[in-house]
Amino acid sequence: MTDYTAHEQALDRDCLTLSRHVLQQLQSFDADAQDLSALMNRIALAGKLIARRLSRAGLMEGVLGFTGGVNIQGEDVKKMDVYANEVFIAAFKQSGLVCRLASEEMEKPYYIPENCPIGRYTLLYDPLDGSSNVDINLNVGSIFAIRQQEGTDLDETAADLLQNGHKQIAAGYILYGPSTMLVYSMGKGTHVFVLDPSLGEFILAIENLQIPASGPIYSVNEGNFWAWEEPIRNYVRYVHRQPGYSARYSGALVGDIHRILMQGGVFLYPGTQKNPAGKLRLLYEAAPIAFLVEQAGGKASTGTQPLLDVVPDHLHMRTPLIIGSPENVALVESFIQQTPATPTVTQV
Ligand code: AHG
Ligand code: MN
Ligand code: MN
Repeated sequence: MTDYTAHEQALDRDCLTLSRHVLQQLQSFDADAQDLSALMNRIALAGKLIARRLSRAGLMEGVLGFTGGVNIQGEDVKKMDVYANEVFIAAFKQSGLVCRLASEEMEKPYYIPENCPIGRYTLLYDPLDGSSNVDINLNVGSIFAIRQQEGTDLDETAADLLQNGHKQIAAGYILYGPSTMLVYSMGKGTHVFVLDPSLGEFILAIENLQIPASGPIYSVNEGNFWAWEEPIRNYVRYVHRQPGYSARYSGALVGDIHRILMQGGVFLYPGTQKNPAGKLRLLYEAAPIAFLVEQAGGKASTGTQPLLDVVPDHLHMRTPLIIGSPENVALVESFIQQTPATPTVTQV
């Protein structure tokens, strides 16, 4: 290999940006492909803006801490939740791409009227996931899904959003960690990008990421042990008696899922006796992550049915979530379905 070729290869790699990757994935330059590429570019812009603010948060006034308000979930809102929510709205104004955005932080979808005549897509998002980590400078994330808008929604009920997770056209997350990463899928594999701050671009790092078939990590808030149903307790008791498992839990779904995608294992946020649906929201947390993990060869379940089959009855519906390596998830399901006879995980 000549130096020139190596040099060319390095340049080609540096030019494998997110927007170019979307066009490659769709194998087209037609208007639909250009729209989806532009859409992903706007999501990337939102991610860059949030990453920039997070990187200097401890030095700026009015960035950290609570607003004093409570969101539709009944959770105390952080200033960064509000900022991140507004960033996505600002990124899609006058884009002509998205007529509605639905977020964890807004009771009803936000309409951008100037986009509505042609904005055929809807963005669903969790602007800042794991926001309890934000004030202590630990990893947080953003989660997103793109769905096709069906109908004009003139009465602004957004009823067409109440469909299963297979309806997602694209989904992914941005992880604000030591580096900023964007992981996405358009239904053709799961791909990992890293933000190169000197270029201001997300560059392809891993194409067609494959989750291990089984793995050693179990990620669950064991402080809820007292509140779980017996099958989940039995599973965790089982794990405690097996050599080879490691507990890892950061309090931010995006970070915990990223570890499991890379190293294998299972993340659980089960329901409790008091709250059978658990904590995580279907449309902008569980379903996008499930889409991504399944595209990487993983499995996502409520414990009793495939997560992507769940049809929500309202925008902010919650769901139990068991997700990760297929063998680990199947094992948890077998406990829930009360058939734990022969655990199938081969290499933990
Ligand atoms: P959010 O910050 O968007 O409200 O999400 C927090 C979620 C999720 O990121 C995490 O896995 C889970 O809540 C942690 O909940 P517990 O503190 O109950 O474990
Ligand atoms: Mn969240
Ligand atoms: Mn959030």
